[in-house]
Amino acid sequence: MTVLRKEMFHLPDGMIYLDGNSLGPLPKAAPARLEGMVRDEWGAHLIKGWNVDDWMGQPMRVGNLVGRLIGAAKDSVTMGDTLSVKVYQALSAAVQMRPDRKVILSDTGNFPSDLYMAQGLIAQLGQGHELRTVAPEDVADAITDEVAAVMITQVDYRSGRMHDMEQITKAAHAAGAVMIWDLAHSAGAVPVDLEGSNCEFAVGCTYKYLNGGPGAPAFIYVRPDVIGDIQPALSGWLGHDAPFAFDLDYRPAMGIERMRVGTPPVLQLTVLEEAMKAWDGVDMADVRAASIELTDLFIELVEARCPELTLFSPRNAADRGSQVSFAHPEGYAVMQALIARDVIGDFRAPNLIRFGFTPLYIDETDVRGAVDVLADVLDNRLWDDPEYKARSRVT
Ligand SMILES: Cc1ncc(COP(=O)(O)O)c(C=O)c1O
Repeated sequence: MTVLRKEMFHLPDGMIYLDGNSLGPLPKAAPARLEGMVRDEWGAHLIKGWNVDDWMGQPMRVGNLVGRLIGAAKDSVTMGDTLSVKVYQALSAAVQMRPDRKVILSDTGNFPSDLYMAQGLIAQLGQGHELRTVAPEDVADAITDEVAAVMITQVDYRSGRMHDMEQITKAAHAAGAVMIWDLAHSAGAVPVDLEGSNCEFAVGCTYKYLNGGPGAPAFIYVRPDVIGDIQPALSGWLGHDAPFAFDLDYRPAMGIERMRVGTPPVLQLTVLEEAMKAWDGVDMADVRAASIELTDLFIELVEARCPELTLFSPRNAADRGSQVSFAHPEGYAVMQALIARDVIGDFRAPNLIRFGFTPLYIDETDVRGAVDVLADVLDNRLWDDPEYKARSRVT
């Protein structure tokens, strides 16, 4: 079944937007919803909004919308903070669950912020933990009985290479380790079955495939049978069992709400809640089928027409997420030349041009149009212009 619903998104005329894996476009209904919320809820109700508009329940309400897309049981996902913070929370809880083990295992394809958060946690704990990173292909074999937690991003942000969630989670559990998945490049991109995978933790962001807007809050999932044993490292008042009792001592909430920290970002959650309507009735299996068609076609056309480019993503669709990267020695300038011609992707150091495929608003015509422009940029060396070589702060 087609999942294309372009009419729900604001896509500037003439632009081919292949960067929804980094920042999703504006859902058309979001500005009116946000304005209405600001005027009718914040404006009219002020502090009463926490109750009458149920702002306090929003992190769980939106968590359940996200949870449906990632195969999570009801009330096992909550929203808030940034993904880096959620990584820290999951990891600190995971290492506590295995106090006799000192290794956190990750891979060299993981997003650096996840590794940095692990390094910060290790320094803070001061208990001799070690962050061990291995090549993505070697993760399963590297899970030994020294490993407390395996922390992996399912889809590699650079290559799009996708880990087998079930297989790695099984290997982690067979060795007695706790499993954490970062679904930043999976949620809304590929089908995920958290319950089926049996992992203990999953985290992810909502500004990419879920179109919650820049700075949209992250999500965290904890398997319902382990949440009761977790002592949150970030023990903020909204993760307390009774925040408005104002007890002097922290006592975690019963369920996933203990992973909440402080006041939720109500304006961003309102936009995200509206954005999640684009997923009503959408089956992730249909999204995946469409994504594979788009990425396969893109690879085929680029390889036929742009021999200067080298495919950096897995060729086999089953091994990649919903993005494709190619290497070019002048990748940065090539991407700037594309962007100047309204084909939007991004650049990842050292030499990758990266394109995301989001079947809710990208179709075959977009793929063909993007390749036409890419071929023109390369064939005519349009990238070879000093203007395209000056690096901006965000690439
Ligand atoms: C896999 C992964 N982990 C963590 C992050 C960091 O997310 P945030 O900036 O929301 O903390 C990102 C950001 O893109 C990411 O892709």
